[in-house]
Amino acid sequence: MKIYSKAELNDYSLSLTYDDISLIPTEVSEIRTRTEVTTRSSFLGDDVNLPVLSSPMDTVTGIDMAAALTEMGCIGILNRFDSSLKELRNESEETKNIKAVSVALTADDEILSMLAEKNYMVCIDTANANNKAVLKKCEELKTKYNLRVIVGNVAHGGTLRDLVNSGADAVRIGIGGGSVCTTSVQTGIGIGQVSSLLDVYFARKEQKLNIALIADGGIKSPGDVSKALALGADAVMLGRMLAGTRETPGEVIKYNDQLWKKYRGSASFGVKMKNEFIEGEETMVPYKGTVKNVINAISDGLRSSLSYLNCKSIQELNKIDHFAIL
Ligand code: IMP
Repeated sequence: MKIYSKAELNDYSLSLTYDDISLIPTEVSEIRTRTEVTTRSSFLGDDVNLPVLSSPMDTVTGIDMAAALTEMGCIGILNRFDSSLKELRNESEETKNIKAVSVALTADDEILSMLAEKNYMVCIDTANANNKAVLKKCEELKTKYNLRVIVGNVAHGGTLRDLVNSGADAVRIGIGGGSVCTTSVQTGIGIGQVSSLLDVYFARKEQKLNIALIADGGIKSPGDVSKALALGADAVMLGRMLAGTRETPGEVIKYNDQLWKKYRGSASFGVKMKNEFIEGEETMVPYKGTVKNVINAISDGLRSSLSYLNCKSIQELNKIDHFAIL
């Protein structure tokens, strides 16, 4: 079996997804139990127990999800579609624990001033970060409001310097790889998440840029979380893995003797509710109970992965340089 470094994976002739690669334990591990490792890290200055961000989708992150994730030391990014943003104005036990909020390009001074006052992390939620309007908004959020800004999405590192110059602190990486995404079918744009991530990782490294990398879309299991972090991501963003939990917005539905919740793309008809161009699907996912179970499963998987790979921390996992292609 050939062992590939990150650089070799990046040069691979085909575009790769998480299912195409595997992590390989290549050394004798000194770690005896999963409790000897730590999954703690820092994201844009905030300490986190696990570098997991929730996607700002209307069927994933409302106030309950954001509050539950903060409580577990993760980061929930409030969606921009429902009334959650308005609710932030009335500070309550739950809203005061929210760490990050997404905004549309049209976000006005009133909203932005409120977010700046509370020092939230802000995600400019667009499908394509490579757009002048996004760069301009990012610059405004940095210079006028001094906010920490996440932009997205990108599929390769070609424009990373432009994003950094506009002040972006973090970038969501992945176009066409989301589980309810139909972008690649509708537009022909969409490369494997592993290849996207590595392209941006090397752009950052080679140009010595300072920006956090978020692997966004296509993460289906705790193992994929470990793979994304081993490939150099600073954090992962999850949609489907968190969908269907009690803390997501929306009702539990009983159908065919099973419980379900709705999960839909931000560019789906159900979100847009008008005859616009649609790039996302709507679906039902089995009801999973509390999100704590999902986060605990990710934490356990990640700890076990660290132990196999003889890494004591996420920082060490980020440096892993041996992978297999399946
Ligand atoms: P998942 O974790 O594989 O379900 O992917 C979630 C990610 O899919 C989000 O964080 C977005 O980047 C992306 N996404 C969300 N809605 C849409 C859509 O309607 N079209 C395309 N991509 C989407």
